[in-house]
Amino acid sequence: MDFLSIKLQALSAINEAQDLNELENIRIKYLSKNGIVNQEMKKIVDLPQPQRSTFGQTANQVKLDIEKLYQQKVNNFSKEKSTKPSFFDITIPGRQPKHGHLHLVTQAIKEISDIFAKLGFERARYPEVEWDYYAFESLNMPADHPARDEWETLFVNQKANPKYGKIVLTPHTSNGQVREMLRLNSKPPIRMINISKTYRRQQDITHSIMFHQFEGLVVDQDINISHLKGTLDYFVKKFYGSKRQTRLRPFHFQFTEPSFEIDINCAICHGTGMIDKKKCKTCKQGWLELGGAGFVHPNVLKAGGINPNQFTGFAFGWGVERVYMMRSNIKIDDIRTLYENDIRFLNQF
Ligand code: PHE
Repeated sequence: MDFLSIKLQALSAINEAQDLNELENIRIKYLSKNGIVNQEMKKIVDLPQPQRSTFGQTANQVKLDIEKLYQQKVNNFSKEKSTKPSFFDITIPGRQPKHGHLHLVTQAIKEISDIFAKLGFERARYPEVEWDYYAFESLNMPADHPARDEWETLFVNQKANPKYGKIVLTPHTSNGQVREMLRLNSKPPIRMINISKTYRRQQDITHSIMFHQFEGLVVDQDINISHLKGTLDYFVKKFYGSKRQTRLRPFHFQFTEPSFEIDINCAICHGTGMIDKKKCKTCKQGWLELGGAGFVHPNVLKAGGINPNQFTGFAFGWGVERVYMMRSNIKIDDIRTLYENDIRFLNQF
């Protein structure tokens, strides 16, 4: 084959090449040590001396022309490759999966139980679907007692049990009090923190039908009011920091005597009761009730098999959402937002 034909063949093959692989095959076929061009060049030895120099020059020029077009094509393909990868590039960083996080109420529950754990309180869990007996009767509230009206109770439409009464969705975590005494075979010391879902037939900006409470119960010998005050102060200091204030109000619960309600100054209006010259929607008067507390009533100890002459104890039951909302760096002006599952809201926490 003469050099002109070799050149034309090689150049058209290079022009038609679709990728670097094909180009490489063309390079091997024409330009490598044993390629067509070199094979042809070897024929120089058969030529008479005077023709050799022209032959050599033509051969070299053909080689250069083929190499030039080959190199151009290689460069083009490499450029295209860098903008449009045609293979799987293992060096590209992977797409990160989206990370979720715990719901803020779950975070609060963990924080609360951690604080009480430091005081030796043991986390307990008692039923959400509960017998009337543990939710009311054993707590010094016999059937038809008017005090029951305060817990807007949801009843389950099932047959009542002769001993334990109707089935309710527990309206407070106090249902765990007598259960815990019995679990420990009526043998104090008891230091329980029972955190659970609770249900009441009530709904507005500070109430959702389902909410959470944490219930503390301490029963031992010689437990007095300074233990109650010390425990609640410890919690408030750890959870809110030293700047928030609490106050105790005398109150009444059937299952504690004496009873109190513990208030904290509102984080939304900073205890003033006003926002932009209007009444604060959340608290209305500067203080918010955290929840109840008191000394375990002798009848409750008796229901748990504990001798009230030998042992005393205190209990408190506070709402998790309420407690969380009142922390100053979190301003939620409607408690129900917590359960609407709007990701734009939840992502902030
Ligand atoms: N169970 C009461 C409530 O739901 C709170 C409370 C608990 C009060 C323990 C005193 C002692 O309002």
